[in-house]
Amino acid sequence: MKPIDTPQDAPKTYRVKSFGCQMNVYDGERMAELLDEQGIAPAAEGEDADLVVLNTCHIRERAAEKIYSDIGRLTKGKTQKKAPMIAVAGCVAQAEGEEIMKRAPSVSMVVGPQAYHRLPSMLERAVAGERATDTDMPPIAKFDALPKRRKSAPSAFLTVQEGCDKFCTYCVVPYTRGMEISRPYGDLVREARGLVEAGAKEITLLGQNVSAWSGEDEKGRPVGLAGLIRALDCVEGLARIRYTTSHPADMDDDLISAHGEVPKLMPYLHLPVQSGNDRVLKAMNRSHSADGYLRLLERFRNARPDLAISGDFIVGFPGETDAEFEDTLRIVEEVRYAQAYSFKYSPRPGTPAATMNGQVPLEVMDDRLQRLQSAIGRHQIAFNEASVGKTCEVLIERRGKLKGQWLGKTPWLQSAWFEGDYALGDLVKADLVEANPSSMRAMPLETVAA
Ligand code: 5AD
Ligand code: SF4
Repeated sequence: MKPIDTPQDAPKTYRVKSFGCQMNVYDGERMAELLDEQGIAPAAEGEDADLVVLNTCHIRERAAEKIYSDIGRLTKGKTQKKAPMIAVAGCVAQAEGEEIMKRAPSVSMVVGPQAYHRLPSMLERAVAGERATDTDMPPIAKFDALPKRRKSAPSAFLTVQEGCDKFCTYCVVPYTRGMEISRPYGDLVREARGLVEAGAKEITLLGQNVSAWSGEDEKGRPVGLAGLIRALDCVEGLARIRYTTSHPADMDDDLISAHGEVPKLMPYLHLPVQSGNDRVLKAMNRSHSADGYLRLLERFRNARPDLAISGDFIVGFPGETDAEFEDTLRIVEEVRYAQAYSFKYSPRPGTPAATMNGQVPLEVMDDRLQRLQSAIGRHQIAFNEASVGKTCEVLIERRGKLKGQWLGKTPWLQSAWFEGDYALGDLVKADLVEANPSSMRAMPLETVAA
């Protein structure tokens, strides 16, 4: 591999590897579009890429260490035959950019999540032999600089809000993604229309704390997330609206009512609770109690009785006792989650919880995680079994492994599969006929218009 301080060949092909959350998937897609605009093509499956973008996640695990091993494998030709130009993007780039530049001389570019719209000019510098770091956090500028999306999958992401001011004591997001910013209403409605023209039938509004989105409508009136959802409900050709991720403290009455009133808003709510114990919630700085969370869900369920509920949990937060963990199991039984994500607590450098007393041993966390996941799994199966016999619309998102087989999503975000003469993006009315632990078999009836 050429040393980085000499000019390098301009890359002709690229690969973006995204880790972590849906926001990173979105960012990865946008970076790919930027590179497409530079005339660089995505590397074909199994082919070496001239430029590899590692779009990293910092939320759990020792992600930074994994990045160094990925860089090592790429440089030593273990991942591909020819060592590529390497860019490190995402939250590890933001948090540890300088360190990466020092430790990994084969990295040409380090670009943070709020700066990747400047990737093309960084690339120019990299080709000239100059290593470039950009971890600035200018609000909004990135979105204005990104190219318009010309092609969209049936289900598209739209970032409406970024950053988080909640400062949960375990979480790095406020440090890596910065303070909360909301993109303007008009830009979002325009971008949503553009996505539908580009082929999207479903839009998932993304934000680290999406329910904190706020803006002004076309008449200058203040609106919250529900107002934006109601505006998107009027976009012709759009069939479904979803949003993620929310914090219980920002769920207002209008959003709750929207679940009962807006036909395109899907009956699904991802609302992390993290723990079922009030002492732990307080130590996490969650600003809600277990009971407050349950009462909030009750109001959502009153507005939309068939709502599927999803959540996030952390086991082994510093100081968590066995009895406190039992409260988390209890909340799972009360809520009856349709699905949920659970994680072992991972100390993140620079966060208050990382230096708290009472770090929980790994074996204890392993045991708690297993018990929690088996409880969640039981409810997921029960939810799927209770869906058998329902008739609903399935949005086709992918082809299945077998010929003529299609994979899509039900309104409750279950994966559903069926066979027949259909196409990607079709909205198909179907009977749900069989439940598996993580998917539903469906019997298609007819295609419906979006
Ligand atoms: N350790 C374990 N899980 C975490 N999460 C966030 N920070 C940590 C951490 N330090 C989880 C939370 C959050 C989800 C996105 O990741 O459950 O909701
Ligand atoms: Fe992190 Fe979510 Fe808490 Fe914000 S609300 S600090 S993103 S866990």
